[in-house]
Amino acid sequence: MPGYSYEQLQQLVKMSHEMKKMAYCPYSRFPVGAALLTADGTVFTGCNVENASYSLGICAERTAIVKAVSAGHQKFKAIAVASDLKERTIVPCGACRQVLMEFGGDWDVIMTKPDMTYEKMTTKELLPLCFGPTYLQRERAV
Ligand code: THU
Repeated sequence: MPGYSYEQLQQLVKMSHEMKKMAYCPYSRFPVGAALLTADGTVFTGCNVENASYSLGICAERTAIVKAVSAGHQKFKAIAVASDLKERTIVPCGACRQVLMEFGGDWDVIMTKPDMTYEKMTTKELLPLCFGPTYLQRERAV
């Protein structure tokens, strides 16, 4: 387990599902929750927030990232993502994969189902061959 315990993982999964309650998704009616574990053990949560101007909606994963970065955190260990889909795990959209990759390729994305089962992949596994900070001669945040 890379840098966090099984108990922390279970807590992230639980919190991601609890965060679905906060989703503002009157258009899709597809609530998504996320729980993001920082390097120092802090957890930031997020939900999707939609808009009448549809394309302005933001996903749960990016809500959590923006909350964490704006509070001074740039190193992450894992993010759990939750939806109500019972037959398959939720997976991050392409835009969110890119935003997660901005903060490193070797941290975990925990893709869950409502029964608390999950699949885990690294950010790099979810977005191989990505355009990232190194293309701009910048160091990664982690
Ligand atoms: N959504 C997320 O918040 N995260 C995902 O991983 C997939 C999709 C949101 C975007 C939109 O508000 C709704 O789910 C339906 O696409």
